Amino acid sequence: MAKKKVLFECQACGLQSPRWLGKCTGCNQWDTMVELTSEQIKFIEESKGNSSSTTTKATSITEVKQENITRFSSGSKELDLVLGGGIVPGSLTLIGGSPGIGKSTLLLKIAGNLAKVKIKVLYVSGEESAGQIKLRADRLQANEKELFLLPEINLQTILGEINSKNYGFIIIDSIQTLYSNETPSAPGSVTQVRTITFELMRVAKSLEIPIFIIGHITKDGSIAGPRVLEHMVDTVLYFEGDPNSELRLLRGFKNRFGSTNEVGIFEMTKKGLLDAQSMAGKFFNKEKLSSGSALTVMMEGSRPIIIEIQALVAEAYGHPKRSSTGFDNNRLNMLLALLEKKLDLPLGTYDVFVNVSGGIKVNEPATDLAIIASILSSYRNRELSSETIFLGEVSLTGEIREIPALGQRLKELETQGFKKAIIPTKPLEETKIKCFIANEVSKVVEWM
Ligand SMILES: Nc1ncnc2c1ncn2[C@@H]1O[C@H](COP(=O)(O)OP(=O)(O)O)[C@@H](O)[C@H]1O
Ligand SMILES: [Mg+2]
Repeated sequence: MAKKKVLFECQACGLQSPRWLGKCTGCNQWDTMVELTSEQIKFIEESKGNSSSTTTKATSITEVKQENITRFSSGSKELDLVLGGGIVPGSLTLIGGSPGIGKSTLLLKIAGNLAKVKIKVLYVSGEESAGQIKLRADRLQANEKELFLLPEINLQTILGEINSKNYGFIIIDSIQTLYSNETPSAPGSVTQVRTITFELMRVAKSLEIPIFIIGHITKDGSIAGPRVLEHMVDTVLYFEGDPNSELRLLRGFKNRFGSTNEVGIFEMTKKGLLDAQSMAGKFFNKEKLSSGSALTVMMEGSRPIIIEIQALVAEAYGHPKRSSTGFDNNRLNMLLALLEKKLDLPLGTYDVFVNVSGGIKVNEPATDLAIIASILSSYRNRELSSETIFLGEVSLTGEIREIPALGQRLKELETQGFKKAIIPTKPLEETKIKCFIANEVSKVVEWM
């Protein structure tokens, strides 16, 4: 008889060991090891693809039948965009974000949209009662006959419900609140989340039902406990946004059925999260800029968005502070060092704070020049023209480099009625914007 396999797993970091350990060697925490059941071990082996009982043979790629992905609309243009064109049947999608950002709000609205077109939707909530959800559904106008609520945290009961009706769409709110009888550990632990996600994956694939899972994010930005979850699901979307503003961005981090370039933009209103009608004017003050503000255009996926960068340069008392919100701190330090060196500015004795307005995060270097412009504007206490846009990546040597999608950005500026742009290279297409070509930081200063 074959010897029974034993495997232990850390509930905090997911480290596996054939022996029980008092202190996990992965995360150095005590008493976190739990013995896995034989089913769990089997599942882990199968998911690693080294199950000894497989009989599948390899097929030549030329003989593999092409799978046609048919998608259906979620009823929200923005969500469809992030998903790569709509919901894929049988797909498992994870939506993450900090508490209160709008995950339940968005998915309840989507549930309502789908139920309206006669798709049977199951909304499983481990966090709120049916009455609470109903209250929200009233506000979101998602009260539809085909929308079914299930306040439940036991996975086996949920699976029973799924099998009892022919649901066309399922929402799990949230994965951290569910537990499976087959696992001894607490809800939200690595083993629980893995077991539940695997079961949901199996249901999604075998019944061809798309399932959306809500996951909470811990302070360090990862979905609480398990990164495992991100590897298992087909699509991972994260909500971002400034709690003080009504704008919410839904960003794709992983997508087995499309690109992760696109970003969905929503507005939080009384009626829920609505597709942002027009992004223009949301992220900047068109009337007048105060000193320390500069405008630029960033690309969010395929969309150009005009944003305002704000800087505050103030004499330091003690050690100078540098801090940025919505922009990489290291890059800010680099730009400051460059300004000191190339323009002889005594920034070493100043505090510098940079903020991207509207809670948006900038992750492309094309906005470097605007950061520099805002810092200079604050330092000199002189406001910039609200009709001028700054575009360009700044290199360590102070050169201003070419940026991608220049034509698209200029077009957006035209639409928004801007007149002047300081850019690194001559635009290929004709534009009504008056362009000033700047290839060096010192040159830009003369025009400010
Ligand atoms: N009556 C209301 N009017 C407008 N916005 C509301 C109202 N009630 C709640 N909200 C918004 O909905 C948010 C809660 O969203 P929710 O979907 O529950 O978040 P999550 O599920 O991500 O924790 C609140 O932070 C608030 O901004
Ligand atoms: Mg919620």
